[in-house]
Amino acid sequence: MRILSGIQPSGSLHLGNYFGMMKRMIDYQENNELFCFLVNYHALTSVFDAPFLRRQTFEAACDFLALGLDPDKTVFYIQSDVPEVTELTWLLSNVTGMGLLERNHSYKDKVSKGLPASHGLFSYPVLMAADILLYGADKVPVGKDQKQHLEIARDIAIRFNSTYGETFVIPEPDIEDDLATVPGVDGQKMSKSYGNAIEIFSDEKSLKKKIMSIKTDSTPVDQPKPVEGNLLYDIYALFLDTRGQEELKERLLTPGLKYGELKKELFGVVWEYFAPYRQERKRLAADGEFVVKTMQEGARKARQVAAVYLDKARHNVGLDYWHE
Ligand code: ADP
Ligand code: TRP
Repeated sequence: MRILSGIQPSGSLHLGNYFGMMKRMIDYQENNELFCFLVNYHALTSVFDAPFLRRQTFEAACDFLALGLDPDKTVFYIQSDVPEVTELTWLLSNVTGMGLLERNHSYKDKVSKGLPASHGLFSYPVLMAADILLYGADKVPVGKDQKQHLEIARDIAIRFNSTYGETFVIPEPDIEDDLATVPGVDGQKMSKSYGNAIEIFSDEKSLKKKIMSIKTDSTPVDQPKPVEGNLLYDIYALFLDTRGQEELKERLLTPGLKYGELKKELFGVVWEYFAPYRQERKRLAADGEFVVKTMQEGARKARQVAAVYLDKARHNVGLDYWHE
């Protein structure tokens, strides 16, 4: 099965990115054909600082590699190293109804949070559809926030195929209910842009500070604590198996538990969980040449597949006038 997903290098990667997408992609690489990429064209809709974008793109590449994405098993690349995707975006644009994009929640949310209402932001889902269709992906692992984008990509593929003849694979979203939306320290969806993210590779002091700031209720220490709607439980549970989750529930229900103590414990768990990757992350960050070469090799492989789908699309819409 061909599995594909991308992430914006628009800030430091966090637990929501990790559990919603990165870890699942890394687990999938053993038995599937995987395409994983950093969508820096998409990041241009919100980042207007070139040095920042360059840095975040490099950092995100280091994060994935350190966490175990294996470039020998996975085609791992930077979106803009395969510029064919922008041409496909144009071909898809002409079968994308305005209504489809006007109904997109993500556009409205982003504008209401202060992003410029640009044409790029409005047509973001068309570029995303091109990302997926250019590689004939069967399945796309994402968090729940991307559900509508995936529906748009499917609609565009169906419309293109019915207008011009069979061209693209219709992709299926792959959303895991338990991990659908990882909450941030304030209880909203964890996001790079909300200041509520627990970053995967932050330093010890910042990580501790972030975890200590997880919002908790004011139940007195000598009372049982709620499990439902308990943010601290929801974040801690990400690191526990079913048995561990049951034990944590028991502890919450037993009077005497201090939230402050539980937060310190959670800090230890998160710090240890990522410890094996931290060393490798440091090594990669110091070997820029290796990382860049790895990404360029990934793009070379990606372009081979992209060329097949793009040529087919160009032919089916009639751009190859020399065949007349
Ligand atoms: P952000 O909102 O932090 O900018 P992105 O939009 O770049 O994150 O998301 C990259 C991937 O991570 C997507 O698959 C997205 O669904 C997933 N993701 C992001 N935040 C979360 C979250 N809080 N919970 C689950 N998955 C998430
Ligand atoms: N829109 C996605 C996000 O913000 C990123 C993305 C771009 C993507 N192209 C994609 C995800 C293709 C999956 C497949 O998270």
